[in-house]
Amino acid sequence: MNIKYLKFNEIDSTNLYLKENYQSLDNWTIVEAKYQSAGRGRYTRKFLIDYGKGLIESILLKEEFAFQNADLISIMIGAALSKTLESYGVRSSIKWPNDVLVNDKKISGILLEGVSTSKMEALILGIGININQDTFPKELDHAISLKMVINKETSIDNFSDLFNGTFIKLYESFKNNHDKSFIDYLNSKLAYKNEEVYGEVNGEKRKIKILKIEDDGCLLVVDNEKLIKLRSGELSFHGCL
Ligand code: BTN
Repeated sequence: MNIKYLKFNEIDSTNLYLKENYQSLDNWTIVEAKYQSAGRGRYTRKFLIDYGKGLIESILLKEEFAFQNADLISIMIGAALSKTLESYGVRSSIKWPNDVLVNDKKISGILLEGVSTSKMEALILGIGININQDTFPKELDHAISLKMVINKETSIDNFSDLFNGTFIKLYESFKNNHDKSFIDYLNSKLAYKNEEVYGEVNGEKRKIKILKIEDDGCLLVVDNEKLIKLRSGELSFHGCL
């Protein structure tokens, strides 16, 4: 696979950069930055990592395979991150679809954005990983960094090499060999498995029991004694993160 890296010290947002420039950039361009002045989170939230303290990157995919499998690729990012953390001796769990939790706190943020005109043209995978932060502001008390867990600094370049390498391997194996074993891995790490949680399902507050991630990336839950499958975006949790 031919990966091209673009590295910036400072940028508004790596996702935004790819949205604005995807036409002239190649499939598998990875944009990394040490700082984002306008980092974007989900639900129009802001996403901030202090200068040089985390891995901030966006991956540009411009192939049909990616467009057709966006939901699976989204959860695959969580698997790649969880595997990367293992090589630092850190155990994590996965809050479906793709939040990676360490000690029940969020170590990363992932934002997938699609660009389409008359057809899908680009899928942008935006990833922010808290690595060397010592503390977080009060309003982010549900966040954690790798340093807060292992009590030492980590090279962001090394982390990036490991994480990107792991993600690329999972992606290629899925694309070339239909290998979906990353779903088994995610299920083995699934947070709140067999537990009842309060969530909002399509805008409605419900108490649901989380069972497993299905082969198509959906979450299987019990809602009011019925089995239902949720797609990402259909569930948000209450009272936990
Ligand atoms: C979230 O938890 O709400 C998702 C946060 C995603 C942040 C990443 S950092 C790299 C990329 N560029 C952005 O502006 N956002 C994503």
